[in-house]
Amino acid sequence: MKIIVVGATGTIGTAVVAALQDRHDIVKVGGKSGDERADITDSASIRALFQRVGRFDALVSATGKVHFGDFAAITEKEVAVGLKDKLMGQINLVLIGRDHANDGGSFTLTSGVLSHDPIRMGACASLVNGAIDAFVRAAAIELPRGLRINSISPGLLTESAVAIGDLFRGHETVPAVRVANAYVKSVEGRHTGRVFDVL
Ligand SMILES: NC(=O)c1ccc[n+]([C@@H]2O[C@H](COP(=O)([O-])OP(=O)(O)OC[C@H]3O[C@@H](n4cnc5c(N)ncnc54)[C@H](OP(=O)(O)O)[C@@H]3O)[C@@H](O)[C@H]2O)c1
Repeated sequence: MKIIVVGATGTIGTAVVAALQDRHDIVKVGGKSGDERADITDSASIRALFQRVGRFDALVSATGKVHFGDFAAITEKEVAVGLKDKLMGQINLVLIGRDHANDGGSFTLTSGVLSHDPIRMGACASLVNGAIDAFVRAAAIELPRGLRINSISPGLLTESAVAIGDLFRGHETVPAVRVANAYVKSVEGRHTGRVFDVL
């Protein structure tokens, strides 16, 4: 399969590429790195990416920023960061990408554990993750041509614990190789409309 991995150079993306690259042709996309550059917050940039890359069989998105911060200080501005980046960016990969996907192709988005297991400072992330999972369940029943869509909802990665573990006190961590397996299941399996929790 020809598989576009957006966020291919990140913590999750690197593990996903490693898990898929022996069996598939991978197009690695990053914001400032990879085979192709694209900015998911800019629909023109997403359109240009699909024009350059051409038709594909699967798209994996392992990217998206959200604001983390004290709820008392959160305003519309902080919420908007995640709405534009992690939420609308990934949804636009589907809305724009669906016309470039081959019949039977798939989309795999990334949400996260905070949708259902909130932490302090994580309200914006919880909001966005829940919306991604809801979008996936709904889009699956209307996508044409046998197109499939799932989301992966990982817990805190072991590899990210040094950087952000202070926010996730008491959470078990999950190794990137185990998280990557859920993406493999989504891409190579037949599930659609599913949220794969990896905890
Ligand atoms: N790490 C965790 O513990 C964890 C747990 C649950 C959920 N998640 C979610 O998983 C996703 C990926 O997390 P991660 O830790 O793997 O992130 P990461 O290591 O920071 O990697 C982010 C990737 O996205 C690319 N990127 C950044 N901005 C972009 C943009 N505007 N357009 C296109 N690509 C862009 C980066 O490429 P450049 O560096 O070249 O810009 C990089 O390849 C996020 O949505 C995160 O919330 C992560």
